[in-house]
Amino acid sequence: MAKLHLITYGCQMNEYDSERVAGLLKRDQYELCDRPEDADVILLNTCAIREKAEDKVFSQLGALKGLKKTRPDLVIGVMGCMAQLQQGRIQERAPYVDLVFGSPAIARVGELVARVRRGERQVLDTAEGALVKIIAKPEGVSRLKAFVTVMEGCEKHCTFCVVPVTRGRERSHPPAVVIDEIRGLAAAGCREVTLLGQTVNAYGRDLDPPLDLAALLEQVNEVDGIDRIRFTTSNPYNLTSRLIRAIRDVPKVVEYLHLPVQSGSDRMLERMHRGYTTQRYLELIDELKSTVPDIALSTDIIVGFPGETDADFADTVDVVERVAYDNAFVFRYSRRPGTPAADMADQVPDAVKAERNAALLAVTTRTAAARSQRLAGRVVPVLVDGASRKDPREASGRTRCNRVVNFEGHGRALIGSVVPVRITDVLPHSLRGALTETDDAARVECDGVAGAAE
Ligand code: 5AD
Repeated sequence: MAKLHLITYGCQMNEYDSERVAGLLKRDQYELCDRPEDADVILLNTCAIREKAEDKVFSQLGALKGLKKTRPDLVIGVMGCMAQLQQGRIQERAPYVDLVFGSPAIARVGELVARVRRGERQVLDTAEGALVKIIAKPEGVSRLKAFVTVMEGCEKHCTFCVVPVTRGRERSHPPAVVIDEIRGLAAAGCREVTLLGQTVNAYGRDLDPPLDLAALLEQVNEVDGIDRIRFTTSNPYNLTSRLIRAIRDVPKVVEYLHLPVQSGSDRMLERMHRGYTTQRYLELIDELKSTVPDIALSTDIIVGFPGETDADFADTVDVVERVAYDNAFVFRYSRRPGTPAADMADQVPDAVKAERNAALLAVTTRTAAARSQRLAGRVVPVLVDGASRKDPREASGRTRCNRVVNFEGHGRALIGSVVPVRITDVLPHSLRGALTETDDAARVECDGVAGAAE
């Protein structure tokens, strides 16, 4: 068998795509290997969301250049968002790359690699393709939790964002196809699925007949063997009361929502083309909190968007304090080619971005720690997914609100089950707990009160 080394950057959708690529190439007799030195084919699945993500890829390509020199028949390919966006720069800066293809071409990966191995150089495929659901997966991948892409692309055109360019128009996979894939995953032992889409809560608008994410969640809920359903990323603009009620009412849907606010300043939101005001966002948060008590919320925030003043930034800090997120991802604005914000005149200096980044992180760390405290002393259902990273004798799992919990478990025996754990210590990055009971009755009861317990 030939050997494939895959390096994945970026979001969960890229992780999902990489698994598909490994699965497709397995059919062509490629097996995964851990070391680039052992590979016949090396593929970099790339991210273009910020410049830093691209820098990483170029430095990785630089590191692989020597290998290619000593073994000219080694195939090096760049796939994914950066391939789509930076084809020219890749050819210029790394002319030894043999293959460049975007995510729409993933279904053709076998043929593309074969063309290179027959001697064709460089092979390029960055055209928009038809929507294809690829379910090929390599063996040996952990099946306890899985990502399932339910829609591709994005049509929001936020002025900072490159995704509409790299991943194309919004297209949903029909529910029957999604359910089929999840049934297959459940049969292979999967217990938690995360439904993926760039604007996942716009799911289904383009289908005939149209449906929405709430309806899809109800269908996924019916799949035996699946215990937990997550979905990401949601856009506030498309968040409906119907979806909020589904988070409350569909039992397997966890009480967790990632709802990027991006900024707490109306002026910035307008310039970002986000389609909502701070007031509207906070109304949604109120509705979420009153409908789904104890819901965990997370967000993405950009600091240093063009034109952002100290007053705009202060408004963002204010929103973060008011929402009290469980988790927040803060990004310094990065100019992306082909996006409207890249050409805005009033770019913010790097030093100011760095300052705001640090200041906001201090706030988000504080609010997240305060939120964690609410779990102290409670019994929560934990899906055990392995041994603790620090102490392999301990078991580790996640709450429905996605916090890591370590506790004294029974080796690997509990992996894959949902068990009741009393939270004894709230630490900065994880929770410690004690298994309360492990008999089946307790497990069922624990599952049943999951919503109220967290
Ligand atoms: N600069 C910085 N952050 C960005 N994001 C998207 N585009 C940019 C950019 N040009 C952030 C947004 C988004 C997350 C995935 O990445 O916050 O929600």
